[in-house]
Amino acid sequence: MTGAVGKLLLFGATGDLSRRMLIPSLFGLHADKLLPPALTITGTSRSDYDDAGFREFAAAALDEFLPADRKDASQIASFLDRIQYQPLDASKTDGFPALADKIGDISGGLAIFLSTAPSLFEPTIKGLESAGLAGETVRISLEKPLGHDLASSCEINDAVAAAFPEERTFRIDHYLGKETVQNILALRFGNSLFEPVWNARGIDHVQITIAETVGLEDRAGYYEGAGALRDMVQNHILQLVALIAMEPPARFDGTSIRDEKVKVLRSLRPIEPKNAGHLTVTGQYGAGAVGEKVVKSYADELGKPSSTETFVAIKAHVDNWRWQGVPFYLRTGKRLPARQSEIAIQFKPVPHSIFADRGGQLQPNTLVIRLQPEEYVRLLVMAKQPGLDREGIRLREVPLNLSLDTEFAGTRRRIAYERLLLDLIEGDPTLFVRRDEVEAQWRWIDTIRAGWETNDVKPKPYPSGSWGPSAGIALTERDGVTWTE
Ligand code: BG6
Repeated sequence: MTGAVGKLLLFGATGDLSRRMLIPSLFGLHADKLLPPALTITGTSRSDYDDAGFREFAAAALDEFLPADRKDASQIASFLDRIQYQPLDASKTDGFPALADKIGDISGGLAIFLSTAPSLFEPTIKGLESAGLAGETVRISLEKPLGHDLASSCEINDAVAAAFPEERTFRIDHYLGKETVQNILALRFGNSLFEPVWNARGIDHVQITIAETVGLEDRAGYYEGAGALRDMVQNHILQLVALIAMEPPARFDGTSIRDEKVKVLRSLRPIEPKNAGHLTVTGQYGAGAVGEKVVKSYADELGKPSSTETFVAIKAHVDNWRWQGVPFYLRTGKRLPARQSEIAIQFKPVPHSIFADRGGQLQPNTLVIRLQPEEYVRLLVMAKQPGLDREGIRLREVPLNLSLDTEFAGTRRRIAYERLLLDLIEGDPTLFVRRDEVEAQWRWIDTIRAGWETNDVKPKPYPSGSWGPSAGIALTERDGVTWTE
């Protein structure tokens, strides 16, 4: 079915993602009257709540995670009225009929959000099918991790596909719900300025950094088996690469945009095992200080030695006509000095400098797209410093600044999940990841991991609060490139 559904079912409803993101996002949509008026929300998980208990849980989540100026008591009360709860052990099918009874008639459409351990995906799908909760009026959304390599991801996708065709399957990458990430499309395809130079003739290289200050938090069980490459590069960073590198889609719709993204993902040059040590760098944080905060090493947080990487830097290439010879330097890490996600596009230098004889130094232009914490687009251009230039022309790099925070100051910034949950409820797949994209992402990641295994690559230690191991800096420096910070 197309269009908005009348019911929403949340698996993992008492988990951390639900508390921090999903419940506050649904409330945000409710408060702004964006949810279908009669939409009911059923939460389920193993926790033994009844309706009233789960409403209390949801109220506590809102209290903890909503900004003070959004805590409107009457809106919270009417939101909680939409919510009910059914406990369930999703690993067994026998609890599903009671869940189906609780949800009731689904002829007006049901959207299911699966935020559970991937090991529960298959049994959950079976349970849903057995209880008649997988028919034509039902769409399903899956939260990562969608496997730990291509083979396990295919298994999950096959299990889902047995009950839900691709057009009713909505895979989440929450980066696609971020305004600034969607803004990449507006910047590239809503302006005629950039596209003529957006290629190997105009661009020298691209840098993508997602730096985090957090460490392992309470996620040892998941993170130790995943590492930075699977946790951040396989999904968020590769989606950013795809948006930066894609050809202009013909329309803003799920098919056109995803068709173009997947072509980029399939064009990623595989990193052969013999190059793994040269084109990738891995690190693991040691003890140190992030800002004022003194923090333990990864191994100490985990309670045992580990060879899981918490930092990765990669020199990647997109092998097609547009991007031939343009390096994409990618890096992400935990316990870095700042929470900072940005894309920096460095253009080619001018072909001939008329200022050189007069002492003027030029820097190539750089376009910085800051995704978070601030939201801005900054074009670094050369300008003449005021003066009579009797001792030579003095030029300086200055920013042309578009602060989205300031420009759109009156508009509330939504949590990425607000947009994604609304799109799920309304059935718009544009900002969800298609199966062929996920698989192309894993195919590229798997070659890197294979190279690490063949060459027994172990993460290099780096102090918490630094920008990762020095080899991460050397990865770009040997090409004469400095990471933007
Ligand atoms: C998640 C990762 O997908 O993204 C986390 O599993 C990471 O490890 C998080 O911290 C980062 O998201 P954001 O929106 O805070 O940049």
